[in-house]
Amino acid sequence: MIILGIETSCDETAAAIIKDGKEILSTIIATSVDMHAKTGGIIPEQAAREQVKSILPVVNEALETSHLTEKDIDAIAVTVGPGLIGSLLVGVETARTLAWVWNKPVVPVNHLVGHIFANWLISTPALPALALVVSGGHTDIVKIWDDYTIEWMGGTRDDAAGEAFDKSARLMGLGFPGGPAISKAAALHHQTTPGVKLPRPLLNDKGFDFSFSGLKTAVLREVTKRKELNEWNTPSINQLAYEVQEAITDVLIQKTLRAVKETEINTLLVSGGVAANSRLREKFLEQIEKTKMDVQLHIPPPIFCTDNAAMIATAATYIYKPTTWEQITTDPNLTITSV
Ligand code: KG4
Ligand code: ZN
Repeated sequence: MIILGIETSCDETAAAIIKDGKEILSTIIATSVDMHAKTGGIIPEQAAREQVKSILPVVNEALETSHLTEKDIDAIAVTVGPGLIGSLLVGVETARTLAWVWNKPVVPVNHLVGHIFANWLISTPALPALALVVSGGHTDIVKIWDDYTIEWMGGTRDDAAGEAFDKSARLMGLGFPGGPAISKAAALHHQTTPGVKLPRPLLNDKGFDFSFSGLKTAVLREVTKRKELNEWNTPSINQLAYEVQEAITDVLIQKTLRAVKETEINTLLVSGGVAANSRLREKFLEQIEKTKMDVQLHIPPPIFCTDNAAMIATAATYIYKPTTWEQITTDPNLTITSV
């Protein structure tokens, strides 16, 4: 089965062609991130306009790179939400139109399910599995049963982990997107530089929910204090970046590994944009080794952690029954869902 995947939920315009859920025949990603870096965050209207400009060239490039034509495509998979409504519409309308012109089935895919299935591009995880999905808009722990049904265990009550990185970076003047910016500054921190210990919200709470909005307030307080004391300089910024990254990753790792222990499910999948963070990846491995846990950890390479269309095509291969274009236009359950 050869699937053309389309992903336009935010500021990436992506198309990929995947054979049998594993073989990457092409994967193309255009991003408008540089434009949003200038404004310090994504302006949805601008993101949608960029989607309109990029979508057809990106789909064409995916086809050209794969050396296939539309005749070889069995189905078109498209992200239907969650995401920015204007951006989502571009992908969905393109998928619908191509499906109608080419007479192909359309497969609607949830963006977060796509992130989870990025792991299947690399290996075939044993099920049941636990998954931590950490992106700019979501932080969730879910169980995936043998039949690929997904059961939600917990998630963020306010800001997502990626949002905590983005908002902290903004308060610190490090630019957008915040995750890579904080990670870069943190790598320059020298352990001898003194600094604050930030809160680890809900770390000792018995459930599996997260809360990162208090962390952002603590970062604001710290930035203000250091500026007032004339202590806002590169070593001080790097120290705070390091501590932000430690606080977020500590909470994500400890909660997720506790979920592994309590459920006795020993396949663990980590994905979404924040899973590209090298410190998170390193600390997960360290912690698993230190506690001698019997757990198979899967994290896709960074390019498949952040938004891409390969994960959407793969998810479609494993869990969705294709629908025809006529169905997608009349079935209310297949409409776009926004956050
Ligand atoms: O999955 P994604 O590409 O888009 C959404 O679905 O939201 O995730 C984007 C988020 C942003 O908040 C970004 O700052 C974060 O992922 N991110 C990172 C890193 N790369 C991207 N966070 C921490 N470290 C990174 N290296
Ligand atoms: Zn995403």
